[in-house]
Amino acid sequence: MSDWSWPALIAHRCGGALAPENTLAGLGIAARLGCAAVEFDVMLSGDGVPVLIHDETLERTAGRRGEVFRLSAEALQATDVGCRFHPAFSGETIPRLDAALSRCFQLGLAANLEIKPAAGFEVDTGRTVGRLLAGIGPGGLPPLLLSSFSEQALEAAAAEVEDLPRAFLAERFDVGALTTAVRLSCVSLNLGRQGLQAAQVAAVRDAGLRTLVYTVNAPDEARSLTEWGVVGVFSDRPDLLLTAPASPDAGTAASIQSA
Ligand code: G3P
Ligand code: MG
Repeated sequence: MSDWSWPALIAHRCGGALAPENTLAGLGIAARLGCAAVEFDVMLSGDGVPVLIHDETLERTAGRRGEVFRLSAEALQATDVGCRFHPAFSGETIPRLDAALSRCFQLGLAANLEIKPAAGFEVDTGRTVGRLLAGIGPGGLPPLLLSSFSEQALEAAAAEVEDLPRAFLAERFDVGALTTAVRLSCVSLNLGRQGLQAAQVAAVRDAGLRTLVYTVNAPDEARSLTEWGVVGVFSDRPDLLLTAPASPDAGTAASIQSA
């Protein structure tokens, strides 16, 4: 199996629970905490621009109605998603992917870019993200891991940026998910923590892939997963896990080396 030098702790949705999710402010907080890597979710605006957002609607993060796939990037960039989290973050808006990548690059953060297509936009989202990354080129990008729950989206992105490492996401382990990850030449299978078993982590390893797990906020759990062979955890509380790192290289920014 290949060497693995990706940071073992990844701040979930940029700054975890310490900042409004999927924002540039979150990236800044992750960096200031000492995180070496972040994860964020990427969806297409109505006019086809990749932006950072998890939900298909604005209700939860902005407190107003609106569907991401119907709104322009300009409108989304003007949408406040900070105030609902805390008034101190008022004015923090939905960033474009290119701005987030640039900020990660400046801050020295590795990034797990999760392609999160709105329903029906799987191929379009993967292809658009892949083309944007190809257009920037490796010299201008932070260390990246591309991932998605959508096989179609990940495959479409991979067609544009074959050399970028990728991961298939599944809420729970099953043989089908592992088979998909292998078929897509993924470096890892990224799994939800609920119900995960040591034998499943071993099965992923036996297939030549690594396992990363979301969302892990308790240091004891992170340690147990590391003992099972899990190489990375996504956390909403990177502050807690940084004081008790999941593995000795938790603070090391680096890239994934493929087999
Ligand atoms: O990529 C790990 C994790 O972010 C997947 O779940 O729903 O938070 O995007 P979600
Ligand atoms: Mg995500």
